[in-house]
Amino acid sequence: MAADYINCKNISKAFGVVKALDSIDFVVKKGEIHGLLGENGAGKSTLMNILYGLYRPNKGEIFLDGKKTIIKSPLDSIKNGIGMVHQISTLVPEFTAVENIMLGSEGEKLTLHTAREREKIKEISEEFGLQFPVDVKIKELSAGIKQKIEIVRALYSGATLLILDEPTTSLVESEFQQLLKSLKVFVEKGVTVVFITHKIKEVMEACTAVTVMRKGKVQARVEKEELGIEKLVKLMFMEQNIEVTESALPKVNLPEIEISKNPVLQVKNISITGNDTSPGLKDISFDIFGGEIFGVAAVSGNGEKNIAECIINPSVLHSGDILINGESIKNNSPLDVFAKGVSYTPEDRIKEGILNEGSIKENVLLGHQEEERFLKKKLFIDWNETALAARDVIKEFNVDTPDEELSMRRLSGGNIQKAIIGRAFVSPLKLLVTHNPTSGLDISTVEFIFKKLVELRNSGSSVLFVNEDLDELMIVSDRIAVLHDGKLKGIFKRSEYDKYKIGLMMIGG
Ligand SMILES: Nc1ncnc2c1ncn2[C@@H]1O[C@H](COP(=O)(O)OP(=O)(O)OP(=O)(O)O)[C@@H](O)[C@H]1O
Ligand SMILES: [Mg+2]
Repeated sequence: MAADYINCKNISKAFGVVKALDSIDFVVKKGEIHGLLGENGAGKSTLMNILYGLYRPNKGEIFLDGKKTIIKSPLDSIKNGIGMVHQISTLVPEFTAVENIMLGSEGEKLTLHTAREREKIKEISEEFGLQFPVDVKIKELSAGIKQKIEIVRALYSGATLLILDEPTTSLVESEFQQLLKSLKVFVEKGVTVVFITHKIKEVMEACTAVTVMRKGKVQARVEKEELGIEKLVKLMFMEQNIEVTESALPKVNLPEIEISKNPVLQVKNISITGNDTSPGLKDISFDIFGGEIFGVAAVSGNGEKNIAECIINPSVLHSGDILINGESIKNNSPLDVFAKGVSYTPEDRIKEGILNEGSIKENVLLGHQEEERFLKKKLFIDWNETALAARDVIKEFNVDTPDEELSMRRLSGGNIQKAIIGRAFVSPLKLLVTHNPTSGLDISTVEFIFKKLVELRNSGSSVLFVNEDLDELMIVSDRIAVLHDGKLKGIFKRSEYDKYKIGLMMIGG
């Protein structure tokens, strides 16, 4: 059996009253693709941030290759061959990949030989099957490409242990398969991997051993030969009653209901000019009726982001019109659109969804700040009322936090997501536009979010559900539209769902 590479002994970490890690023992062996599983807020990112030197533990020891090692900073961890790709991208948007990667080497290798390093970066990306455009500014690139760049950055710094914190939340199935191939190459070349994910299916496909965490503790280390979906789900959610299905997919009850005769949303021949990262939209039309969850399926970068965004910000339309309850919103600002009973949860929650430094309370107010309920004398923000709304969101959406004053960036990734979705439900809704709402959520929370979408639908409202996971779309949508290269390729009714057909259409077949 391979030797222990990482051995964390008895690690504890508290943030004020929050006990994030409680006497953790965590072992990774050389050459493993080690899955780290656990519900939202279980402590996965905190443990990895300790290994990476971002946090110091209150207690415990770390052994690398059998040697006790004190890691005080990321520089220390990089020196020890540890590289980490965070849940939230840390690339500088205004810089190119080469600039970011050279910056990331923390002064050690900072050199004026850009041309030489550029070649080296290209070599590494080819060696590991992670090609990307090296001279394009990060802000122009898709989430999948940014991730490749972050991985190459870690490898360039000499990482022999690569920690990937939820690398697949923004990847579609085909991109996951690519990543899987790269993971195998890493292992061949002597790189060990810790892989955090919420998708049990991915763990089963990719991992050679798994550690399951729960409420700041390690539940178990499971070896490859003992891996099974049922076993993992049980370890993750012990006392909760989660039914385990073969596929480990969330379940939802979608009753037959009558849909309204008049459309809530009418999209009429809209076009949006494309750019480097998106083909834009090309003459798209569809209607969504009250009582419908309308899914949009696309491989990311095929215009799906535009579809969600243009409803909130119609000023991006090049031609065509969008109507809500029969009224054109073409000349409306986002706040005008919100005032019509529309809410939006964006794809990139960290970049577009939140004020990072703001409190949960301030973040819950975002988008609602002009509503009468939250204004005193039509002029000043009513902070008491805002606090009440925030507490409702925390309670109903089970946001793991001591109170509503905590700054948003201190929440775990999944809890940020819950707060953002909760915010959309603060006021009565006619139409919810939601893009990848379940990314980074554990399966029990995904089921909860689906239940909220279905409740909205059952009450006669509409949902535009743009999602990159086709399985999820098929579970909860009444109809599914397929986008490819900015064009609407077809719309399927529930009775016509066929994963193969839809999947083929998504890739242009
Ligand atoms: N800097 C911080 N300040 C205060 N609390 C924190 C901080 N970082 C994490 N926590 C808390 O520690 C706990 C564990 O968080 P962590 O981010 O490690 O969870 P996670 O397992 O990565 O969850 P997710 O799957 O949602 O990303 C949570 O209750 C979180 O709110
Ligand atoms: Mg996390």
